[in-house]
Amino acid sequence: MRRVLVTGGAGFIGSNFVHYLIENTDDHVTVLDKLTYAGNLASLAGLPESRFRFVKGDIADASVVDPLVEASDVVVHYAAESHNDNSLHDPRPFVDTNLVGTFTLLEAVRKHGVRYHHISTDEVYGDLELDDPQRFTEQTPYNPSSPYSSTKAGSDLLVRAWVRSFGVQATISNCSNNYGPYQHVEKFIPRQITNVLTGERPKLYGAGLNVRDWIHANDHSSAVLTIVEKGVIGETYLIGADGEKDNKSVVELILKLTGQPTDAYDHVVDRAGHDLRYAIDSTKLRTELGWRPEFQDFEAGLAATIDWYRANEAWWMPQKAATEAKYVAQGQ
Ligand code: NAD
Ligand code: DAU
Repeated sequence: MRRVLVTGGAGFIGSNFVHYLIENTDDHVTVLDKLTYAGNLASLAGLPESRFRFVKGDIADASVVDPLVEASDVVVHYAAESHNDNSLHDPRPFVDTNLVGTFTLLEAVRKHGVRYHHISTDEVYGDLELDDPQRFTEQTPYNPSSPYSSTKAGSDLLVRAWVRSFGVQATISNCSNNYGPYQHVEKFIPRQITNVLTGERPKLYGAGLNVRDWIHANDHSSAVLTIVEKGVIGETYLIGADGEKDNKSVVELILKLTGQPTDAYDHVVDRAGHDLRYAIDSTKLRTELGWRPEFQDFEAGLAATIDWYRANEAWWMPQKAATEAKYVAQGQ
């Protein structure tokens, strides 16, 4: 039995990991989450009180972080400002949470000698040409494009420095785009699904040729647990499930699966600095730690995700109108 502190556990991927841990281990889990617009306690409903507790607080507040880290065997750090579009309009919270928050956690794990796993993104590597035969590997140089990805890149570099200079017992993972239930309606797939469900047309940035490498959130969680248990200290592991799709194809598939004409969407203003393509080579994680993704059928996973949003309107509807109003004000 481990005592695991999960930061950002009320968000999309963090809450998936908490459920995964409770179902697949006998760990005791504490979630530290600030409950920003992106955090939702309903995503953590039904967890056993004997093995789970929730603490509301800011990862950049050392007085909150320090005692929680001291009382843990492992910290798994998901908390972040996570949305690229928001980072283009108001970068400051990204610096505060992604950089200062990570620094605060690193100082606490250093002080108390606690194992730390850092959740990061493939976006730290910048983007690829559509026809580039190479995919991102652990050796790809950092080249982030947005305030979001640059603060995530900076947080990764802080972790590497704390490992080398202070001997912090840390691993890092960089994952590709996640999909599945409980994702905020600001993100691409839930936005388009809930647009269809509310009678709006899906909105595609630019021509929609940008490619993302989709992985189901459950596969991300199984990969993180594998790294926490078997990862080599100081190492970085890329997580991906060979799920490259261009945005136009994803919108058309959502329309097909919801029984709409596949051209019933709008092209809207493109994202500034929009990364063209992400693609992950996860050979290291597969060969060295024996991890395999389970959700390889994207169409089936997307259909199940659509069913979840259809059945759980109470979870997402309260955020829908305000999120769309923000996009409309930006021409998106
Ligand atoms: P999310 O926006 O859904 O959730 C973020 C959570 O962090 C929320 O619950 C929020 O309340 C909390 N939070 C934000 N600032 C905080 C602070 N200062 N203190 C405490 N809690 C705070 O994000 P997500 O999509 O679940 O992403 C989680 C992590 O995974 C992030 O680190 C992100 O960079 C990384 N990641 C995401 C993806 C993806 O496709 N979504 C892919 C790879 C990596
Ligand atoms: O690659 C991992 C990253 O994936 C994570 O680090 C981020 O936290 C996560 O938000 C995600 O970033 P993206 O910017 O790729 O995801 P987003 O869902 O915002 O957009 C996916 C693609 O869809 C991107 O090319 C932009 C496009 N898009 C997005 C929205 C919201 C549209 O075409 N229309 C939209 O309405």
